[in-house]
Amino acid sequence: MAPRRRPTTDPGLRMSDGAFRLFRTLIEAEVGIQIPEAKRPLLVSRLARRLRDLGLDDFEAYYRRVTTDRDEAERARMFDLISTNETRFFREPKQFEFLERHVLPAWTEQAAQGRRPRSVRVWSAACSTGEEPYSIGMLLLSGLPGWEIEILGTDLSTRVLDRARAALWPIEKSQQISEPCLKAYMLRGTGEHEGCMKAGPELRRLVRFQRLNLHDARCEVDGRFDLIFCRNVLIYFSVEGRASVVRRLVERLAPGGYLFLGAAETLAGASEGLRSVGPAAYSLAERAAVPRRRQTLRSVLSNREEGTREAGGPRCS
Ligand SMILES: C[S@@+](CC[C@H](N)C(=O)[O-])C[C@H]1O[C@@H](n2cnc3c(N)ncnc32)[C@H](O)[C@@H]1O
Repeated sequence: MAPRRRPTTDPGLRMSDGAFRLFRTLIEAEVGIQIPEAKRPLLVSRLARRLRDLGLDDFEAYYRRVTTDRDEAERARMFDLISTNETRFFREPKQFEFLERHVLPAWTEQAAQGRRPRSVRVWSAACSTGEEPYSIGMLLLSGLPGWEIEILGTDLSTRVLDRARAALWPIEKSQQISEPCLKAYMLRGTGEHEGCMKAGPELRRLVRFQRLNLHDARCEVDGRFDLIFCRNVLIYFSVEGRASVVRRLVERLAPGGYLFLGAAETLAGASEGLRSVGPAAYSLAERAAVPRRRQTLRSVLSNREEGTREAGGPRCS
């Protein structure tokens, strides 16, 4: 993640009231993110450098570029620039404890009784640089040994998705991961990756990534999910925007599935069929069985990784 900068308004680049209205309307209409007046300096600081790089004199010219000129790549880049990508491994640990103590044992028992397959599908919506889906992966690998596990990570930002696919983080992030998980699933970088930590192949092969705009009603993801994490993104949307997203997520929950929101987020009134079962965790009451899609195993990656060695032994630091 890029280091956080204090929002500063470039004195040479003033955003007029008219330009601010155009950008905030465009951004909310396309990706659901609301930009209140108080966030105008932040918007200006995030876009100003891009204007300079492109040699543009004012925000109106940049707006024309992403609208009238229909420069789709630049439009995607603009959304990249305005999104906040803060995340960490095992964020909101109580939700992971809830999964470990309640959900995984129940599923294990159901599988032993032949009441559910030994497979689990997970969607981490708005996954940022991947810490969330890889945390879920570590939990499931250790809690459901031998199960078929499939995790989809999606985000609006192609920049963070590239980083999530690389599965490479500064070694300081290892402090967010328990010692047993570090030893089992992470590799310590060497050579050009010195100072980094990389997800090992067993973990990486569980997770695939796809760009997806949660605000887009088409919601192009395949099948249903036993777990959906949609955390710390709804806060940027309007109440109506949140409710629409929650409804689409509920449509994607498998019977008996669980939805996890961020600690400060609510269902925004779209609570049909959901009941609160844990910390910002909701379950879908059992409904008419929906046939489970046949799971496909992705190709198994080689165990040999260039630029890494086993992270076992002392904690990465
Ligand atoms: C603060 S991060 C949350 C990351 C992770 N879920 C967590 O809780 O740690 C918010 C993420 O939402 C993404 N985002 C913002 N608007 C989005 C949208 N309309 N569709 C999909 N992702 C969006 C941003 O790109 C960013 O990566």
